[in-house]
Amino acid sequence: MNKFKALVLDKVNDETNLEIKQLSMDDLPEGEVTIQVEYSSVNFKDGLVAIQNKIITSYPMVPGIDLAGTVIHSKDEKYNPGDEVIVTSYQLGTGHFGGFSEIARVPSGWVVPLPKGLSLKESMILGTAGFTAALSVQRMEDNGLEPSQGPVLVAGATGGVGSLAVNILAKKGYEVVASTGKSEQEEYL
Ligand SMILES: NC(=O)c1ccc[n+]([C@@H]2O[C@H](COP(=O)([O-])OP(=O)(O)OC[C@H]3O[C@@H](n4cnc5c(N)ncnc54)[C@H](OP(=O)(O)O)[C@@H]3O)[C@@H](O)[C@H]2O)c1
Repeated sequence: MNKFKALVLDKVNDETNLEIKQLSMDDLPEGEVTIQVEYSSVNFKDGLVAIQNKIITSYPMVPGIDLAGTVIHSKDEKYNPGDEVIVTSYQLGTGHFGGFSEIARVPSGWVVPLPKGLSLKESMILGTAGFTAALSVQRMEDNGLEPSQGPVLVAGATGGVGSLAVNILAKKGYEVVASTGKSEQEEYL
């Protein structure tokens, strides 16, 4: 595929414009791994990008702070065409063309193989918020947390990271206390 579609945020004479454009492979930034993007999550940072917040470091920019897809070309022998991969964080979607594009090209150090047991779609349903929640639980367990120590409090529990943290902890056998400032969300929690 030489031509493909991407959401492009551009700035000309202080006017910003967000639209779906046709790009070619030559428009993509440098990187060892080229990926056919299947999914990208919509994260809080994407919201900031959409309202042209200062987290964008250069224009034009393709937003999308994470992506999951299939490798179509790799200059790094760690990856081969057909490999299913995830990319999240670094400058993806803020300083380097991101996941709201049919094709992405990224540094190989940003690429993570799709974990076994997870589909590309599931990986982006969890998204960067789920990854963040999982890293937080992992860090607490590395520091000795275990279910026998009693309940775990999750603040901001209706939010992206909080709701996934509640899910992860409950599935791992923890008693979870979910706190929220939104009384109407009590039943959901
Ligand atoms: N999303 C990511 O990928 C990611 C990655 C790294 C770090 N983070 C950080 O993780 C935190 C949560 O991110 P998120 O994406 O889950 O955001 P979010 O979906 O907007 O959720 C944040 C939650 O925090 C609670 N909250 C908001 N204002 C508050 C206040 N003034 N006092 C107390 N609680 C308040 C609200 O929950 P209740 O109404 O239920 O109380 C809200 O739903 C943020 O600090 C974010 O920067 C997020």
